[in-house]
Amino acid sequence: MLSSKTSKINISVEDSFEQYHNRKLVYFNKKTKIYLKNEEINYSIMKENKILIKVVSISLNPIDLLIKNSIPRFSSFERPICSDYAGIIVDVGKVQEEKGWKIGQSVCGNLLNSISKGTAVEYLCIDPDKEPNIVNFDPNVVDYNVAAGWPTVSSIAYVVINGFQRKREKEENKKEDGEKRETLGKEAKSIDEDRNILVIGGSTSVGMIAIQLAKNIGKFNKVVTMCSKEGFGLAESLGADHCVEYHNKQELRQELIRISSDIKYDLIFDCVGNKDLFKYINEIMKPKETGSKYVTIVGDSKSNYEEGFKLRALISPGVRLIGSQLGHHSVNFNYWIQVGKPSDSMWLKDVIELIETGKLKVPVDSVYKFEEFQEAFDRLSKSVAKGKIILRVAETV
Ligand SMILES: NC(=O)c1ccc[n+]([C@@H]2O[C@H](COP(=O)([O-])OP(=O)(O)OC[C@H]3O[C@@H](n4cnc5c(N)ncnc54)[C@H](OP(=O)(O)O)[C@@H]3O)[C@@H](O)[C@H]2O)c1
Repeated sequence: MLSSKTSKINISVEDSFEQYHNRKLVYFNKKTKIYLKNEEINYSIMKENKILIKVVSISLNPIDLLIKNSIPRFSSFERPICSDYAGIIVDVGKVQEEKGWKIGQSVCGNLLNSISKGTAVEYLCIDPDKEPNIVNFDPNVVDYNVAAGWPTVSSIAYVVINGFQRKREKEENKKEDGEKRETLGKEAKSIDEDRNILVIGGSTSVGMIAIQLAKNIGKFNKVVTMCSKEGFGLAESLGADHCVEYHNKQELRQELIRISSDIKYDLIFDCVGNKDLFKYINEIMKPKETGSKYVTIVGDSKSNYEEGFKLRALISPGVRLIGSQLGHHSVNFNYWIQVGKPSDSMWLKDVIELIETGKLKVPVDSVYKFEEFQEAFDRLSKSVAKGKIILRVAETV
């Protein structure tokens, strides 16, 4: 394992779309191991509308293991892995040059399609028009490990928090524009003064970003989070006002109900997978008529990354989602799976700006050399990391 701080990187940007010796991580299916493959690639044949990135760091996400462990054992196609990356552009096709991409730029992002293309490679050749989740960053301000760590986890956190915020603002503006301007103006003010969020899983990487975005862009006054005791310090350092240990269900219930005499939630954001709160949801959440919302990105129970996707896990939250849409459930419920590009095109620029100005921290749990990928995936599968697990692909000096 490497130290989580990176030294200066030694990369030549005089490379070009030529013959490259490339190493990449691949696997066949859920029963086979991930391995490092050597290949010779001639990128010049792909040139015109592509850019070539020398990958410096990538980060691992549970989805990488979930996808791998969902590929049936009879599948014999070699598949790539990972979707988050940070690196340096080493060549640019003409079309992309005209669009402003330059050799030497530091870029980071995540792939929309990580099933047929993965970022666990030394050289990544992409068309930014087809893989638009890419942004440049200042490597003097943001470490490559951090730059590789934020895209996937922050896209989902941004979509949930910013989506909630935008909807609230719209409703408040509508009210202010309406006939009852005077009285509703007061109501809008009271909403602003008492806006609270509960993040289930404050020590997940998504949860850590959510805690910070809740204060930065969500304008939440109180951020309460549920996590194990080991995560309390980190969650508090990122802005959580209260941390609640969540392993003992009875104690958790008592604590959440105790807190609810002061704090009732506008938004509950589940980053772990939990259904226990529905038994007493009306005691801790504001009424659904106020626009309060419960959003899960996992479902009713924790994922088992070794088992891959389980369709039956979608049934119970799916039924609740339909019930909520039809108005039959006591909460506004949403089950969000981020597929494709987030609808808010500003997320990349907004989030990188928050990172560059130090307003958003991306905790790094551990950094492994590219060759130590197995240890890194083992750590990911244990679900114990407090922050992003990074694979350092490029050499350092
Ligand atoms: N729907 C989507 O589009 C979407 C997008 C991104 C991620 N996700 C999902 O969101 C969840 C969190 O992702 P992440 O990258 O933030 O995770 P992560 O950084 O790997 O989270 C690690 C932390 O999660 C807690 N944890 C323990 N077992 C867990 C389990 N089985 N599932 C989830 N968390 C567990 C532990 O904290 P404590 O010690 O406090 O328990 C651990 O320190 C994952 O299930 C992931 O698949 C969904």
